[in-house]
Amino acid sequence: MTRTRFAQPKVSRFATAFLAGLSLLSMTGCAWTSKIFTLSGPQSTMLTEGPVAKAQWGLFMVTVYVTTFIFIVVGAVLAYAQIKFRAKDANAEKSEPPPQGHGNPMIEIGLIAASVALLVIIAVPTVRDIWYTHDVPEAEKADAIDITATGYQWWFKFEYPSEMVKLPTGGEAPLVTGNELVVPAGRPIRVHLRTIDVIHSFWIPKLAGKVDMMPNRANFLWFKADRPGYFYGQCAEYCGESHAIMKFRVIALAQADYDKWLANQKQPARTVTAQTASAEIPRIQFANYKVNDGRALAGSPEFDANPFAGWQKLQEPGAENAALIATGRKLFQEKTCVSCHTVRGHEGIGITGPDLTRVGSRSTIAAGVLENTPERLAQWLHDPAHFKPGNKMYFGGYVVQSPDGSWKPNFTLNDTEIDALVAYLHSLK
Ligand code: CUA
Repeated sequence: MTRTRFAQPKVSRFATAFLAGLSLLSMTGCAWTSKIFTLSGPQSTMLTEGPVAKAQWGLFMVTVYVTTFIFIVVGAVLAYAQIKFRAKDANAEKSEPPPQGHGNPMIEIGLIAASVALLVIIAVPTVRDIWYTHDVPEAEKADAIDITATGYQWWFKFEYPSEMVKLPTGGEAPLVTGNELVVPAGRPIRVHLRTIDVIHSFWIPKLAGKVDMMPNRANFLWFKADRPGYFYGQCAEYCGESHAIMKFRVIALAQADYDKWLANQKQPARTVTAQTASAEIPRIQFANYKVNDGRALAGSPEFDANPFAGWQKLQEPGAENAALIATGRKLFQEKTCVSCHTVRGHEGIGITGPDLTRVGSRSTIAAGVLENTPERLAQWLHDPAHFKPGNKMYFGGYVVQSPDGSWKPNFTLNDTEIDALVAYLHSLK
């Protein structure tokens, strides 16, 4: 018997070489290749840290197992038929086809039954997890905390309706934070999802899968963090030019630490006086603030290595210069920052931008894009449009639109002014 050898097409040789190259790369153990192949980044959906994400990951794997099983069985039958019934020589290619069948009831009924069985295997956990992930389980409802998250182009506002704060102008309002959602670990958190403008989507990959924030629709989701930690969140619905860098953080704390955090957040803005500040601290110079490397996750290597520790460190005031801070506070008013940002207890009353009452205690600025270091804050104040194209602090603040549609400078900040503003904003802890 002679066998026909088919020439291996160029394409498949190419593919083999490419795959071999990839596997070689993955075996070299480089940090970045291992990151790609294990998908272990800070926004990994595989390394789950809470029951909701765990349920979603488990359901995904059930689907993967079932479909892999189907792929192997169908692929094996196909390969068997290809090899067994192929034309074995030139004569066979010209011969009559074998007798044609017209179906086999046993095989047809069997395949239908098998398909239904496989779909049931996927359907049972799907229905169970739809119920589970929809809302906090009955037994845990009493322990749940409600939080309202609102999407803005391009940042997140978080409100704590159960934590009312006294407003300097009289009355009360829920405690508000921006871009950092602080919650107690081990307790269910129900997040009510709202938007002020377009559709956004709320996603904490390690804790819970996305739910859209839609105009005129009261969506919500719940999650729970298994342990204290620092988690990365991301807008997951295209919402304009800075969608990809509309991020946030979730910081889960032990209950006692959370209580301490809440008590501090509820106080009016901190005022630094010459008595409380360390007077010898010289002015900080930001000679390098024009250097824009624009990393997507712009934490320093030390911060990225342990962001939770980095966040904790920011909760306590460091070295401060009272005179510089006072200048910054005055500039915050003069440069009209106050009309868009609230600093509860100080001059700021605006609600267009994030509440800055405790901005110095947050680990990131510009909706999770930049680490909140003096250098980064200075870079941000120097050129916000560079880091967040289209943002309203620049378009509407730094530059304003004329009736003819063109943008004209509204105000500028020189190095000395940026210096003072950074000192002021970082004193707000
Ligand atoms: Cu908000 Cu995408």
